[in-house]
Amino acid sequence: MNKPNDLAISATDLNDIDSNASHDNHFNSILNARLSRRNWLRGSAVTAATAVMGSMGLSACGGGSDAVAITPTPTPTPEKLLAFTAVPKSLADVVSVPAGYTATALYALGDSLRAATPAYKNDGSDTDFDNRAGDHHDGMEYYGLSAAGAPLASGAERGLLAMNHEATTDEKLSSHFLHVNGGTTTLPRPAAEVDKEVAVHGLSVVEVRKTGSAWATVNDSAFNRRVTPLTDIEIAGPVRGNALVVTKYSPTGTKTRGTINNCGTGKSPWGSYLSGEENWAGYFTRSATDNAARGDKSVASLNRYGRSQGGASRHGWETGGSDDKYARWNLSKIGASSNGSDDYRNELNGMGYIVEMDPYDKTKAIRKRTALGRYAHESAAFSVPAVGQQLAVYMGDDSRNEYIYKFVTTAVWAAADANPADRMATGDKYLDSGKLYVAKLAADGTGQWIELAMSNALIQAYSAYKFADLADVLVNARLAADAVGATKMDRPEWCSVNPANGEIYYTLTNNSNRTVNPSGSSQLAPDSANPRAYTDMKGSSAQNGNPNGHIIRFKEGTGAAAATSFTWDVYLFGAESGADASKINLSNLTADQDFSSPDGLAFSPYTGICWIQTDDGAYTDVTNCMMLAAIPGKVGDGAKSTLNYATAAGGNLAVDTFIGKKPTADTLKRFLVGPVGSEITGISETPDGKTMFINIQHPGENTSLANIGDPSKYTSQWPANAGYGAGKRPRSATIVITKNDGGRIGS
Ligand code: FEO
Ligand code: CA
Ligand code: CA
Ligand code: CA
Repeated sequence: MNKPNDLAISATDLNDIDSNASHDNHFNSILNARLSRRNWLRGSAVTAATAVMGSMGLSACGGGSDAVAITPTPTPTPEKLLAFTAVPKSLADVVSVPAGYTATALYALGDSLRAATPAYKNDGSDTDFDNRAGDHHDGMEYYGLSAAGAPLASGAERGLLAMNHEATTDEKLSSHFLHVNGGTTTLPRPAAEVDKEVAVHGLSVVEVRKTGSAWATVNDSAFNRRVTPLTDIEIAGPVRGNALVVTKYSPTGTKTRGTINNCGTGKSPWGSYLSGEENWAGYFTRSATDNAARGDKSVASLNRYGRSQGGASRHGWETGGSDDKYARWNLSKIGASSNGSDDYRNELNGMGYIVEMDPYDKTKAIRKRTALGRYAHESAAFSVPAVGQQLAVYMGDDSRNEYIYKFVTTAVWAAADANPADRMATGDKYLDSGKLYVAKLAADGTGQWIELAMSNALIQAYSAYKFADLADVLVNARLAADAVGATKMDRPEWCSVNPANGEIYYTLTNNSNRTVNPSGSSQLAPDSANPRAYTDMKGSSAQNGNPNGHIIRFKEGTGAAAATSFTWDVYLFGAESGADASKINLSNLTADQDFSSPDGLAFSPYTGICWIQTDDGAYTDVTNCMMLAAIPGKVGDGAKSTLNYATAAGGNLAVDTFIGKKPTADTLKRFLVGPVGSEITGISETPDGKTMFINIQHPGENTSLANIGDPSKYTSQWPANAGYGAGKRPRSATIVITKNDGGRIGS
């Protein structure tokens, strides 16, 4: 759903603020890519040698009348990336891919993961969602298996898909497609409805296998797994055991109950799965008098994270009954204890982290990695691992005017950790100790990473919030970033590292609060890193600010992953191809390239292609959301430019920015357009580069609850209209994309 991400989150726009993560730039993938390149080179060398021998003809074989002539083996035509024909913009209720490619639905909301759970009827009567695919498939990663079913990073024909189930399509409290008549839209919500809605959130792991040329999920695989907002999860890192996370559920502050609104993902160099908790705050309620009941600095923290007193919850789950699993959705201070061990006043401090899971081993506890900070997480992208050097994890906070972060490990990378005996223990080693930084970008194309720590005088002296210790800084990372004057960005979504040169790409999806003449504290004037403020028309509706978004990229300075300075430029500006090229379409996008609101972004470690996905509400009068393939250059390959704005006072606001080299038809091309109402998300591939899995999230999301009984009024019937599954209600789903000639995706 493309809804604005505001600091003040309302019950209906919590979630998607649209959303989305991830990536495959982990060590195994990079290693495999290097190996496959090496094999290709070796193959070429062998072929060349054969050809040379062939040309030497009979004499090379010693001559003689019975010598057998060697037929030269043709040198393979080098693969050309982006050789496909661009897919046109479209409003059709289908998935469109280039000629020569096939896209097929594979794993949709409600699909059974267990033999004992019946097939999905898709009429609102289904139950047992703890054993079915969740809703709103989002970030996703592929984990290879050997033919025998053992973890094997290079496994390309059998593997696991681990993915996030971010949210549900809803209206007036109810996730209407999950209930027969659309569900209850007033409080209290019935327990059975709440239980179903809770269970479709979280994560899932599903085994997939290729038979012949067809991929299918494996029902009842021992690897299949659901994680929900009720799953027991360990708090790891500096916040573990801190007073800020003491709850009735965990009086010792060492556990939380579940994970929610999981958006982007990451794949660690040691083979684990990372999930970002994004718009979690809105699932909880707070009483209208809670500020007075608390009377302490927790009020400032709750306000900064979008839960001011009196805030209504998105679904009203706290009204499901007297059981503690419902009570936990109420953040009000209602207990008599001094530390919060008898209520859920601290429950929100247990949400908002990067969560690590071993996708191969459900016996290992899932952990929230608090050292990476608490905010509206998207993806987590690792620096290219170098033996003996620290790792960086790049992350963003997706709300308007929020920040870009990186975490630098204390531990240095050891090659043996690429294939560890215990992936979660390896996660403890790298992710529980290190430094968290926030980005401050300057107008001259440079930037600084500012450490968020008690040693920073600005954090010690911050008047709006008195930090107690490092755990307090991490739990309240937004406040700490405010204290050090970090740069407010146009909604950082996914990030990814270019495996070719280590540069870091961040999508900045849009920002309706950029304006040349700001008023109030939430509006900001354009600056060098967020340089556009303009009006785009959607029919008769004016969309102001930076409605189409841009993609910024960083090059680390001295110290690589551990650098404290960087340079930056803007790789691409989203825009309509017909928009003014001097003010809006600054990257000169053509009709085969134009897009709005970049969200998902990931470099393929196999082909090097940069995949860009959109979650848009601005250009959707012309086209559904899409995925593009790109071959970017590098920071500094373009030119400095100045944008001039007339101010209300009659002056001129001149904004210098740095525009990357403009794309050509060979370096940026639209690859896919999705069904009506969907966003495109989740980028993952098999390690041979020949199969891609992506997610189609919330097709038909604008279907009114009032029309639940009339499928002809659904805004989308995908994937049923593509022959997948029962019923006609639209369903979020994973699709599998292959090339008909067996080639790599994007060639
Ligand atoms: Fe769930 Fe900001 O994307
Ligand atoms: Ca998204
Ligand atoms: Ca988004
Ligand atoms: Ca428009």
